[in-house]
Amino acid sequence: MSVRTLTIDGQPVAIAEGATILEAAKEAGIHIPTLCFLEGVSAVAACRMCLVEVEGISKLLPACVTQVAEEMVVHTNTPKLQEYRRMTVELLFAEGNHVCSICVANGNCELQDAAIKVGMDHTRFPYRFPNRSVDVSHPQFGIDHNRCILCTRCVRVCDEIEGAHVWDVAQRGTAAYIVSGLNQPWGEVDACTSCGKCVDACPTGAIFRKGTTTAEKQRDRAKLEFLVNAREKHEWTR
Ligand code: SF4
Ligand code: SF4
Ligand code: FES
Repeated sequence: MSVRTLTIDGQPVAIAEGATILEAAKEAGIHIPTLCFLEGVSAVAACRMCLVEVEGISKLLPACVTQVAEEMVVHTNTPKLQEYRRMTVELLFAEGNHVCSICVANGNCELQDAAIKVGMDHTRFPYRFPNRSVDVSHPQFGIDHNRCILCTRCVRVCDEIEGAHVWDVAQRGTAAYIVSGLNQPWGEVDACTSCGKCVDACPTGAIFRKGTTTAEKQRDRAKLEFLVNAREKHEWTR
């Protein structure tokens, strides 16, 4: 196994070739904020929260998909990155309809946490106020598209861990939305096993358990970690 040595925020780090900057930073105890990244499923670099500066490269790079290189010098918390991170969160709030006070994930939401962390008290961008729907056709769960940030975690856990592939992304750009089945109500999609993995993966209150009221959404992330671990170690195969 080949090892790469690099510097992150002035700290020397040694890690296996092929590792990402995010993994190297974690190894070094340096926190890089993320939203679309979820341990155990593929990384898609959709949210741009994890952007870092690499010396000698003029553009900012997403740490979750950028592999380390020998003698790379990475900065994770410069004033420029702080400004971009704040802008990313402001854009997410302006793009959807996020009313935290009536959300099931209030106080337990990764988007809300990100806003608090970057010190966002308002957004400088005009709100789009999109007209989005809520689907409560599933007997146990619901999806409120108003709170969706298109991180696609639900798409990836359902496909890669559960193997059901109920979710996907329909349309493009500002018209994009998370779609169930062949654009059917979630409750009519036979492939759904009602496992709840998408509920546990969703960073916001977009996918929730029915009957959950404001601030009550809890996620069982340990369940996802357990399943990924078991799969990777082939604990269930002969
Ligand atoms: S409950 Fe399970 S099978 Fe159904 S959509 Fe969510 S992750 Fe997929
Ligand atoms: S429903 Fe939740 S997990 Fe799925 S894309 Fe939207 S915010 Fe992400
Ligand atoms: S966590 Fe890297 S782009 Fe979203």
